[in-house]
Amino acid sequence: MSQAEARGWTPESWRARPIRQAPVYPDPAKLTAAEERLRRYPPLVFAGEARRLRAALAMAADGRAFVLQGGDCAESFSGFTANLIRDSFRVLLQMAVVLTFGAKVPVVKLGRMAGQYAKPRSSDAETQDGQTLPSYRGDIINGPDFTPEARVPDPARMESAYFQSAGTLNLLRAFASGGYADLHEVHRWNLGFVARSPLAERYRDLASRIDETLGFMAACGMTSATTPQIRETDFYTSHEALLLPYEQALTRVDSTSGDWYACSAHFLWIGDRTRQPEGAHVEFLRGVKNPIGMKVGPTMDADELVRLIETLNPEGDPGRLTLISRMGADKLAAKLPPLLRAVRRAGIPVVWLCDPMHGNTVSTAARLKTRSFDAILSEVRSFFDAHAAEGTAAGGVHVEMTGQEVTECVGGAHRLTEADLGVRYETFCDPRLNAGQSLELAFLIAEELKARRAPPGGAREVPPAVAAQ
Ligand code: PEP
Ligand code: CO
Repeated sequence: MSQAEARGWTPESWRARPIRQAPVYPDPAKLTAAEERLRRYPPLVFAGEARRLRAALAMAADGRAFVLQGGDCAESFSGFTANLIRDSFRVLLQMAVVLTFGAKVPVVKLGRMAGQYAKPRSSDAETQDGQTLPSYRGDIINGPDFTPEARVPDPARMESAYFQSAGTLNLLRAFASGGYADLHEVHRWNLGFVARSPLAERYRDLASRIDETLGFMAACGMTSATTPQIRETDFYTSHEALLLPYEQALTRVDSTSGDWYACSAHFLWIGDRTRQPEGAHVEFLRGVKNPIGMKVGPTMDADELVRLIETLNPEGDPGRLTLISRMGADKLAAKLPPLLRAVRRAGIPVVWLCDPMHGNTVSTAARLKTRSFDAILSEVRSFFDAHAAEGTAAGGVHVEMTGQEVTECVGGAHRLTEADLGVRYETFCDPRLNAGQSLELAFLIAEELKARRAPPGGAREVPPAVAAQ
């Protein structure tokens, strides 16, 4: 019996708990049949990979690694193309190189990819022109078109999501180990980005120092041909564990350890709307041995958080639990420090990530959801400040981004305005940073990390304010 089972957990114990955000399938027999088929399909990831990620995250818990988690708010069935997957992967790698240089520690790369299909919604229904239909809940549940047929939850979508995840993961694995992730190539892409940026002057210094470093390493004999770390990378997948029938069907016992692993992705997280301590989502994730995450929004109180981390990480394993703070730029300074103190006092190690996206969503006059680049950067800086003041480790960032040049978030070097949003607004859910904005964010975070590494009392290089851009 696994430790989780000894604590009363089974892969289906969540079914006895109150559940939020769960679709109601009109045909339960069809749901059961789909779950049974999924239970027989091969796992998408293996326990050994999840353990490796857990070890990498354990380093981020005390500042020996930095985590970059990013990808679409919601993947879609229509966006299942090699180019879209490649471009997101490429920008994540480009960001990771810059962050590695800034943080001077390994960057753990975690895609919101190959399984990010289920979305929590603030309302069960949506009204357009006097017609009310069930909300779109992500392609794994129903369709985005505003028609009664599309909005009916369909269990067959779980199998489509499974196969699409398998295809995406296959490509990601090939890119990560097949030469596409070569550090020299990634750096060359970054030089191209810097050359085209209106802020080229600002970014050139960091880019040319990476250039020199790679040249020096090559002179010492460390090239793609001799050093696998330059040629290959570890890339992990993650998504919100929202649709529990799907997650349960892909949960398997690891034959070497006897532990249960969720095998739909390496890392699963609990959303801010489904983190009730007695709820179904917390119950399910407490029993799988993967590294897991939980969103921590402005309504979380310290006692509740401590209770949740005791439930989710009872063994106090440093890589097990990642808390993803998503407070909003203007709330973080008041809301996060008491939680950092409470978690530290509880003595349970966690990784803290900053999601600077979900607390900074606003609606435009044209009723499009957007986020401002400045608010996003400002939340990251406040997050670093809060950790510096409490003596805790700022473990990384979690962003919604894409490798395409979409126009969904305002601001950045190209100064996108609300009036530009209509040009390429393509998200199925929340507004994402485009490729250029994502890289800029990485450059600015790297500057920030570098400045913060300066020895106490030494000359701290303070990056110029964003407003100066
Ligand atoms: C998300 O990450 O897409 C999300 C819904 O976030 P949250 O649970 O923090 O609102
Ligand atoms: Co989102």
